[in-house]
Amino acid sequence: MTLAMIVAIDEKNGIGKDNDQLAYISADLKRFKGLTTGHTILMGRKTFEALPKGALPKRRNIVITRQANYEAPGAEVVKSIGEALALCSDDQKVFVIGGGEVYKAFLPETDELYLTEIHHAFKGVDVFFPEYKSMGWEETLREGPFTDEKTGLTYNYSNLKRTGKFDCV
Ligand SMILES: NC(=O)c1ccc[n+]([C@@H]2O[C@H](COP(=O)([O-])OP(=O)(O)OC[C@H]3O[C@@H](n4cnc5c(N)ncnc54)[C@H](OP(=O)(O)O)[C@@H]3O)[C@@H](O)[C@H]2O)c1
Repeated sequence: MTLAMIVAIDEKNGIGKDNDQLAYISADLKRFKGLTTGHTILMGRKTFEALPKGALPKRRNIVITRQANYEAPGAEVVKSIGEALALCSDDQKVFVIGGGEVYKAFLPETDELYLTEIHHAFKGVDVFFPEYKSMGWEETLREGPFTDEKTGLTYNYSNLKRTGKFDCV
């Protein structure tokens, strides 16, 4: 199983504000759909509850929460990192899709990052992507810059593969 994270980050690693995304870039949303469809997506309870139409179609949805008896229609529910990883250990690829707490929790186990780097520092950001650069990554794809006509935002894609992953003994 390959564990990947997909995230849109601003210039200061900001990813969210008031339990919402910082920006909605239509080409980026299409790319998200294309990359994740047919795979497993793993998300925190808050990110799940922010999905406008609930569980995302054509993907195995897994929600992590510490609450007992939490129900997430269209999704499987787990209570710990270990339970999540065990549940999808036979899946080909699992995308962690947020939010901040869950990115932080799964980063040590992550093999790949799919970043959308937005060239802007948003105001009022209250959720950040964890520090990741020092962990050792090789860039396998870089595309852009592109400009989103609707928002005027400039962004690029950067795919990273982990080089510094090793087991502690
Ligand atoms: N820019 C992006 O690409 C992107 C993507 C996704 C989300 N976001 C943004 O991120 C923000 C939400 O992030 P967030 O950090 O507040 O919330 P979150 O990570 O979506 O969800 C946090 C919740 O997940 C559960 N959880 C987290 N770690 C756990 C663990 N180790 N074991 C068991 N349960 C665990 C807990 O649920 P319980 O409280 O139920 O126990 C916790 O309250 C929003 O602003 C959203 O728009 C941005």
